[in-house]
Amino acid sequence: MSLTRQLGIEVPLICGAMYPCSNPELVAAVSAAGGIGVVQPLSMIYVYGHDLREGFRLIRRITDKPIGMNVLIERSSKFYLDRMKGWLDVALEEGVRFFVTSLGNPRWVVDRVAPLGGVVYHDVTERKWADKGLAAGVHGLIAVNNRAGGHAGPKSAAQLLDELTDLGVPLVCAGGVGDETAFAAALAAGYAGVQMGTRFIATDECGAHDDYKQAIVAATEADIVLTERVTGVPLAVIRTPYVERIGLKAGPIARWMLRGRRTKHWMRAIYALRSAWQLKRASLAGGAREASSKDYWQAGKSVAGIERVEPAGAIVRRCAAAAAALSASGTAPTARRRA
Ligand SMILES: Cc1cc2nc3c(=O)[nH]c(=O)nc-3n(C[C@H](O)[C@H](O)[C@H](O)COP(=O)(O)O)c2cc1C
Repeated sequence: MSLTRQLGIEVPLICGAMYPCSNPELVAAVSAAGGIGVVQPLSMIYVYGHDLREGFRLIRRITDKPIGMNVLIERSSKFYLDRMKGWLDVALEEGVRFFVTSLGNPRWVVDRVAPLGGVVYHDVTERKWADKGLAAGVHGLIAVNNRAGGHAGPKSAAQLLDELTDLGVPLVCAGGVGDETAFAAALAAGYAGVQMGTRFIATDECGAHDDYKQAIVAATEADIVLTERVTGVPLAVIRTPYVERIGLKAGPIARWMLRGRRTKHWMRAIYALRSAWQLKRASLAGGAREASSKDYWQAGKSVAGIERVEPAGAIVRRCAAAAAALSASGTAPTARRRA
């Protein structure tokens, strides 16, 4: 089934979950305009201070259109996994029927969601993870490419399309799409839809600091670098004076700990806690351009297409128009079939 019909939306455009940038007003604005916003529960609770259920209800006061939730299924912490299971139940009780899973095996999510008529899409960076996701019963795949914001994958959008296209489920392009031209190009290439993250940070509704939004507008593709120093694995960030000074590789102790069988779990936990705090601070405080700052601003290479801070709905509407023009031109047989 097509992505738009599966999700009950008009425009095959997902506003990807973003820690620490997804706030309920942003999610609501994208869904209200005909795309679909995805709640990031950690961002909702720990960055914006909402009880999760209250956050969903706040969104519902703005729009009754479909929304999604991100389910991070990292198994290394039982405490965290239990909390995630509780959050999934809250989301289902509040009527959410679209879930985006990242990391790990999504089977328990599918088992809870599918009997209620819900849909699960799984984030993948290569065929191996796609096969695992499909074996667990997911309904679609989000192909995270090497231009994405957040944790980028190793492959290009074209390579991922080639590698995953025969799997028979809708494929969403995540990474590098910052405007309606790139959006239409992804559909024309054969993707069923697009997930954008960075583009939606530079919007009126996003709760991030204005300095961060302006840095995204000002940045060129060459300003985006991958650093291991925040989470231990490559994370796309804007090159700031601090990033320049401290370098992009994990420090020697961290590297040593990440190699050990037991110590790697501790090191990942240390990274997770530290980065959650660090990224929250950076997103809300601004000032990462100052030489004295130790903050990181996450962004992907899609900064190239981002020229101004504007309402999220305006972005969705321009993408809708570009998709309609593409269909009318008859140059996107694959996209027409799937979107
Ligand atoms: C600041 C930021 C935070 C992100 N956090 C998450 C997250 O918590 N969970 C997730 O699945 N993806 C996360 N992502 C990835 C996005 O959902 C999306 O796939 C990605 O941003 C697409 O690339 P783009 O930024 O070039 O549009 C994040 C991306 C950014 C830019």
